[in-house]
Amino acid sequence: MAMAMAMSRSNAGRGIRLMSTSGWWKAVEPAPKDPILGVTEAFLADTDPNKVNVGVGAYRDDQGKPVVLQSVREAERRILGKENMEYLPMGGSVKMVEESIKLAYGENADVLKDKRVAAVQALSGTGACRLFAEFQKRFRPESQIYIPVPTWANHHNIWRDANVPQRTFHYYHPETRGLDFASLMDDVKNAPNGSFFLLHACAHNPTGVDPTEEQWKEISYQFKVKNHYPFFDMAYQGFASGDTDRDAKAIRIFLEDGHQIACAQSFAKNMGLYGQRVGCLSVICDDAKQAVAVKSQLQQIARPMYSNPPVHGALLVYSILSDPDLKALWHKEVKVMADRIIGMREALRGNLENLGSPLSWNHVTDQIGMFCYSGMTPEQVDRLTSEFHIYLTRNGRISMAGVTTGNVEYLANAIHEVTKSSEKELKAGAV
Ligand SMILES: Cc1ncc(COP(=O)(O)O)c(C=O)c1O
Repeated sequence: MAMAMAMSRSNAGRGIRLMSTSGWWKAVEPAPKDPILGVTEAFLADTDPNKVNVGVGAYRDDQGKPVVLQSVREAERRILGKENMEYLPMGGSVKMVEESIKLAYGENADVLKDKRVAAVQALSGTGACRLFAEFQKRFRPESQIYIPVPTWANHHNIWRDANVPQRTFHYYHPETRGLDFASLMDDVKNAPNGSFFLLHACAHNPTGVDPTEEQWKEISYQFKVKNHYPFFDMAYQGFASGDTDRDAKAIRIFLEDGHQIACAQSFAKNMGLYGQRVGCLSVICDDAKQAVAVKSQLQQIARPMYSNPPVHGALLVYSILSDPDLKALWHKEVKVMADRIIGMREALRGNLENLGSPLSWNHVTDQIGMFCYSGMTPEQVDRLTSEFHIYLTRNGRISMAGVTTGNVEYLANAIHEVTKSSEKELKAGAV
């Protein structure tokens, strides 16, 4: 009897195991391809010798090769074999974070002297944005975020996954290929008082269009009137003008006006530390006591996600920013990168004009930073790819960092070819 019961128990057990070994993820469909990273995949699969990748926002030298800065190599040499690999605190490297916020707010900023800045190391710019979005949801659960049109596509994913409702505000004017300042200001005025706004501190991605200093002042003034909250995403400090202070101008204007801002910083682009995932999130508070509380809550959000951030990139950033010589070298190298991009903008525009294109290409040189929002249609981009093996996102965004003296003529010719039909429309007065 006992034996029979034991047998039936084990059969039943076996049956249950058989039923539950498969089918768990039946409902999972392949995720849509990331529009930016998908471009690189397609580029890599292309065997054409003339292929060009102007899709991804990563700096390349004039030979089209990835760059490791000399300042980074020197920092690597200095830390090699000298540091242990212990965990960092939840908020990351305190030394690195101190240097990082000096870079954003200015060495002598009052908010730093008053210890009013709650700041933590973050997983590059993306991680800093995500931490802030989670913080916003947790402590202002009723709030929304106003995002410019267009923006870096991942902003939408980040605030969506943090369950913060999104609204948009006007930013880019397709006809002038510049800033739609009047509509932007209307949206700022019409948003409910105390709204959260996402602002690109410089080198707006994807448009390369930044407000002028005067326009930033007006935006800051209107934010005060409306008591809006400015969240700055600063992924390209130094990359726009070659000068890190100049590129932080918008932030400094808001500081002077007494705003309590938050800022996401990335060292991916300006130090070329893409894969190291090093950045910083800072939140300006009323006083030092509040800054301690806010920092502790940011750490609480980080703890169940990744516990603490990686150490190597933080050591590199700290080594560079804390040493006057290395920092000076880095500043020079940032300028070289920015100047190469500015030079390629001139070359691309010059080539297009020499080809006799009657379209205006002024925006190629008016826009700033890594990207040129060319104004090409998705169909024209498709032709660039299928006929000329040139890869970019379908919104017509050209990563100027991928343009070189070797490919700029080829690129200009191809753009001229695919925009010829727009030229006909232009002559007929339709554009
Ligand atoms: C506007 C903007 N914010 C943030 C990022 C984040 O980059 P990362 O996470 O590599 O620092 C990027 C990168 O392309 C960007 O363009």
